[in-house]
Amino acid sequence: MIILKLGGSVITRKDSSTPKLDTSNLNRIATEISDSSCHKLIVVHGAGSFGHPYAKEYDIGSEINSLEEFTRKKQGFSKTQNSVKNLNQLVCQHLIEQEIPAVSIQPSSFVQTYNKRIIKADLDLISKYLDMGFVPVLYGDVVLDVEDKIKMAVLSGDQIVKYLAENLKPEKVVLGSDVDGIYNKDPKKYSDAYLLKVVTSHNDLESADNTQTVDVTGGMGGKLDELLELTKIGIESEIINASHDNNIKRALKGEKGIGTLIKKMKEKK
Ligand code: ADP
Ligand code: IPE
Repeated sequence: MIILKLGGSVITRKDSSTPKLDTSNLNRIATEISDSSCHKLIVVHGAGSFGHPYAKEYDIGSEINSLEEFTRKKQGFSKTQNSVKNLNQLVCQHLIEQEIPAVSIQPSSFVQTYNKRIIKADLDLISKYLDMGFVPVLYGDVVLDVEDKIKMAVLSGDQIVKYLAENLKPEKVVLGSDVDGIYNKDPKKYSDAYLLKVVTSHNDLESADNTQTVDVTGGMGGKLDELLELTKIGIESEIINASHDNNIKRALKGEKGIGTLIKKMKEKK
């Protein structure tokens, strides 16, 4: 079984302040998934411009200290939930057009967090869909948070990937983004940044900040946090560039080393 995350940076125009799909990337990726003939697959996609601008505008996930804030945040929650659901519908539609048996699974309908981390999510149904040969499609969403002051949180696709992987133990975890993998520093800001083929700790990087972008869930740094947690239970993952032709197909067919591998640090003897 493979878990594949499609970053919001790939399937949407993430720099847009209004929801914009990257139709050509989505079409190509759906074809590549279909061509790979991967039979046991979960797709998780990010929110990109369908989620981050709303989540940021309404500051979903910050403490609520008044009834006015609560009322306003609920409006923001509904708008974000509706917008990412629209994106999910488009993703599923593209997959189904390629005869991939996609089924949409809405995280806000079954996941709860405490302090923005998943504490409750029943995966039985997802396992059942997988066993029947469906491709469950989950996505970055807004969810209820049981912490009394927070109440509502933004749940990244990356955290969903980590939760699914630790519970369903896939053979492979692949994250497709709009860069070739993890660099020593942000390649979009520094022309001298170089690609790291293997990352075993945050110390391998000079920085993974995302302060310049609209991303409310931690960008590359947040992604790496989730993936490093997975290495502790023996699950390796790879970040690849899903904007480039055939990378998704190659990764799903079993190729390794296309981008950056995130693995456990070797213990010193
Ligand atoms: P996605 O939407 O694909 O899940 P993000 O937008 O959250 O991905 O994160 C990817 C972005 O992180 C890249 O486009 C890049 O500009 C930025 N970034 C910041 N630091 C790094 C780094 N050290 N290596 C690679 N990318 C980085
Ligand atoms: C964010 O999900 C979810 C919302 C903003 C509602 P992700 O963090 O996985 O999205 P991308 O991949 O960075 O766009």
